[in-house]
Amino acid sequence: MTNICTFSNRVAFVTGAAGNIGVALCRLLAAHGVAIAAADLSKDILEERLAGIKGIRAYKVDVRDPESVKTAVDSAIKDFGHIDILFCNAGVWNHTDVKGVQRFEQMDYGQWTNLLRINLDGTMNCCQAVLPHMIANGYGRIVNTASISGEVGLPGYADYAAAKAGVLMFSKTLAMENASKGITVNCVSPGMVAVGEPQPTDTTWIGRRGSADEMARAMVFLAADESGFITGIDLPVEGGRTLGPVNAAKL
Ligand SMILES: NC(=O)c1ccc[n+]([C@@H]2O[C@H](COP(=O)([O-])OP(=O)(O)OC[C@H]3O[C@@H](n4cnc5c(N)ncnc54)[C@H](O)[C@@H]3O)[C@@H](O)[C@H]2O)c1
Repeated sequence: MTNICTFSNRVAFVTGAAGNIGVALCRLLAAHGVAIAAADLSKDILEERLAGIKGIRAYKVDVRDPESVKTAVDSAIKDFGHIDILFCNAGVWNHTDVKGVQRFEQMDYGQWTNLLRINLDGTMNCCQAVLPHMIANGYGRIVNTASISGEVGLPGYADYAAAKAGVLMFSKTLAMENASKGITVNCVSPGMVAVGEPQPTDTTWIGRRGSADEMARAMVFLAADESGFITGIDLPVEGGRTLGPVNAAKL
C-alpha cells in the first residue's frame, strides 16, 4: 500500500498557526515529518500553544503588513533553507465594534477594510513574499483557507464573505499563473468549525459541526507531494452545509 500523503524534506510556512485550525494543522504536519515555520500575531502565544511540537519555530507576523510578512518569510528561509508549502490560514470574521453579526448598512469603512486587509490582503501579502522563492525552486504547494461564506454568502458578515470570495478567485488565478512552475494553489473552505469536541447542529446534513482536525486533514492532503495534479480547486469541508436545505425531504 502506498501512502498518499508524503513529504520529502518539506518546510511549511503556516499563518494563523496559534489559532484553532492552525494548531491542529501544525500537529498534523509535524506528524508527517514536515518542518514548520509557525507565524501569528504573538510569538509568546505561538510558543505556548505549539509547545511540544517537533521541528517548529515561531515567527511574529501581521499579515496585513507586507514588510512584516517579508521579514518573517525571509527569517524562515534563512533558518530552514527553503519554504516548500505555504498555508495562508490567518483569518478573522468577528467585528471589532459589535460582537458577531452586523448588517452591511451599519458597517463602517474602517471595519470593512480591516476584515479585507486581514483575510484577503493578508493572503496576497504572504503569497507575494513566498512565490518568488518557490518559483526559483521549481516547487510549491500553496493552500489558502477560504470559507463557505465566500462560496454562498453569510448574512451579517458581508465584509468577511467578500474577502473570502476574493481569496477563492485570487487562488484560482495564481494556480493558472504558476501551474507550469511546479506550484499548485488550492483552497480549503471550512464551515462551522468547533473549538474542541464538535457539537450537534441541525444546520449541516452530517448533523454536527466540524473539528479543527478535519480541516487540517484536508489541508495536509492538498499540500502533499502526491497532490501535484490538483490545482485551482476549492475543497469545502463543511458537513454538507452548502447543499440544499437540511431536511428538505424527510425520507
Ligand atoms: N472557525 C470556523 O468556523 C471557520 C469557518 C470558515 C473559515 N475559517 C477560516 O479558518 C481560518 C482559521 O480560523 P480559526 O477557526 O482557526 O480561527 P482562530 O481565531 O482560532 O485563528 C485565527 C488565527 O489568525 C491569527 N490572526 C488574526 N489576525 C492576524 C494578522 N493580522 N496577522 C497574523 N495572524 C493573524 C489569530 O491570532 C489567530 O491565531 C481563518 O482563515 C478563518 O477565516 C474558519
